Amino acid sequence: MTGLDFKNNVVLVTGASGGIGQEIVAKFANAGARVVAVDLQPPAQLPDKCTFCEADVSDFDQVESRIGRILAAEKRIDCLINNAGIARDATVWRMTESDWDAVLAVNLKGAFNFIHHLAPHFRDMNRGKIVNISSINGLRGKFGLANYAASKAGLIGLTKTIAKELGRHQVNVNAVAPGYVLTALTESLPEKIIEQATSETVFGRLALPEDVANAVLFLCSDLAKHITGEVIKVDGGQYI
Ligand SMILES: NC(=O)c1ccc[n+]([C@@H]2O[C@H](COP(=O)([O-])OP(=O)(O)OC[C@H]3O[C@@H](n4cnc5c(N)ncnc54)[C@H](O)[C@@H]3O)[C@@H](O)[C@H]2O)c1
Repeated sequence: MTGLDFKNNVVLVTGASGGIGQEIVAKFANAGARVVAVDLQPPAQLPDKCTFCEADVSDFDQVESRIGRILAAEKRIDCLINNAGIARDATVWRMTESDWDAVLAVNLKGAFNFIHHLAPHFRDMNRGKIVNISSINGLRGKFGLANYAASKAGLIGLTKTIAKELGRHQVNVNAVAPGYVLTALTESLPEKIIEQATSETVFGRLALPEDVANAVLFLCSDLAKHITGEVIKVDGGQYI
């Protein structure tokens, strides 16, 4: 498709070894990008021209040193996809302090760490794309997910603010908010939960990782060059 050509682009994807991350990596690689796949552990497979970088996104200093190393090797980063995320579900009265801290540290501070350390590079290049993977539960809230929903809502505030701060440097900053996505992890959940989420969609089907990846590529492409500070739901109408 015209406009979805990422030749000569270097794309950094966090949480790259998970269900959605692997699909984002594969789609960018297919579109000609060199991809740096960041995660705690290597992905099951890595397409050609992609490299793995082991990092804990919640560690501010480690992220700084990894970005230094990546820039020394690749010379540039064109697109940053903040996709790493975890969940520690419990009702708020059962949620421990460490459940709260862990989810906020990975999902929200992790994105801040990468944006903070890469902002000078994007400003120097006077271009760049950032996509943060939020969730419809950051927009609507969800029983038992106070930490997760707060982190994903926080990502939306972060997205809109950074869009304003980096806009003068021609950087597009957007969020994708998936509904329930069928990954290896979610497929193993009780059938009742899958059925309930499916019945909330208007299409009668849950998203696949590629549905999310397609939105990410669109937002990083020239087709979306005048879109910034936006949140695109990819949820089959689960939350209208
Ligand atoms: N699967 C869904 O239904 C769904 C719905 C909405 C939003 N999301 C969001 O999409 C993103 C990807 O989800 P997924 O379904 O692929 O999950 P996943 O668990 O399959 O993948 C998440 C990846 O993040 C990595 N990760 C976790 N902590 C990390 C850390 N501290 N540093 C570096 N990497 C770390 C994990 O190792 C894993 O590879 C997450 O942000 C998630 O919240 C998922």
